[in-house]
Amino acid sequence: MNESQNRLVNPETQFDDRLDQALRPKYLTDLIGQDRVRENISILIAASLQRKEPLDHVLFYGPPGLGKTTLAHILANEMGVNIKITSGPAIERPGDLAAILTNLRAGDVIFIDEVHRLGRVIEEVLYPAMEDFALDIVIGKGPSARSIRLQLPRFSVIGATTRLALVTAPLRARFGATYRLDFYDLPAMQSIVERAAGILGVQAEDGGINEIARRGRGTPRVALRLLRRVRDYAEVRADGVVTREVSIQALNLLDVDSLGLDDMDRRVLLTVIEKYKGGPVGLSTIAASISEEPDTIMDVVEPYLLQLGFLDRTPQGRLATQRAYEHLNFPYSKDEQPSFF
Ligand SMILES: Nc1ncnc2c1ncn2[C@@H]1O[C@H](COP(=O)(O)OP(=O)(O)OP(=O)(O)O)[C@@H](O)[C@H]1O
Ligand SMILES: [Mg+2]
Repeated sequence: MNESQNRLVNPETQFDDRLDQALRPKYLTDLIGQDRVRENISILIAASLQRKEPLDHVLFYGPPGLGKTTLAHILANEMGVNIKITSGPAIERPGDLAAILTNLRAGDVIFIDEVHRLGRVIEEVLYPAMEDFALDIVIGKGPSARSIRLQLPRFSVIGATTRLALVTAPLRARFGATYRLDFYDLPAMQSIVERAAGILGVQAEDGGINEIARRGRGTPRVALRLLRRVRDYAEVRADGVVTREVSIQALNLLDVDSLGLDDMDRRVLLTVIEKYKGGPVGLSTIAASISEEPDTIMDVVEPYLLQLGFLDRTPQGRLATQRAYEHLNFPYSKDEQPSFF
């Protein structure tokens, strides 16, 4: 495990499964935020139920921890069908996929996480399955080999990915609906933290909830983890009540700053600002400077920095913006910044 996976604010690492179950919204009405996606999905569900048809294949994409898996479960719950969970890397051979598909009942959902990591050969099997609900199986070897077509029940694929660009075009084309999940705004984050505090039985004041929501990187999974750490602090160092003061002290001690940035975010920004005079600098150069994987930076550091407007992505590389300089208390001089115009 490298350092990035131990990050408190890493939206990728799942916390305690049981707790996750308790906190995960189960129906569309429990889902907070993502208004556009929620409305689209409610139409999709209502239409499918009215026509008594299985759901169309659905693809969710967006940064980790925003609710792709949650939404897949919600879709299955709302449709009243079973959901079978797997992931791109878990399906190693065509036989693995065939085993899953032949065990589905009509209407069931197969959720494929990290769908961009499906192998080519698996994808070839998946195409006719998604399109015609059929599996082409080759029997025998050599010249006597023949292919038979096995009819499958009508099922729905729900795919999830953090990297839409890595999903092959033919696979993408087979999803009837594709939804992008965005970072949550502050009011949604507050409601999510408040709801979780209620479920966990944490005594929290509005100020305390607000502080956790603001530092949660617009990401429910991160905010929920921060809530649990602040609760620890409140119980051990205070009287158990999560006030604003307690939240601030706890989160500062955890090295999560007022915008939710941690040491790794700061190291990325400092590399661009100090070592490369604000950029532009390539992602792999940044990664090498701080001894991290480029993928980690791309998936779990950059999206939030881009969202804050701290980084700009240009064809020449990443640029630190004036906002980033100001947040880190560095003097920003326009002349030093490269100009492309
Ligand atoms: N809209 C929401 N309201 C309340 N809680 C949410 C919401 N969305 C997600 N969560 C909570 O955030 C956590 C992460 O959600 P989820 O596992 O669905 O994210 P994900 O997008 O699948 O992440 P990954 O890309 O890492 O698989 C879950 O514990 C879930 O309970
Ligand atoms: Mg997930």
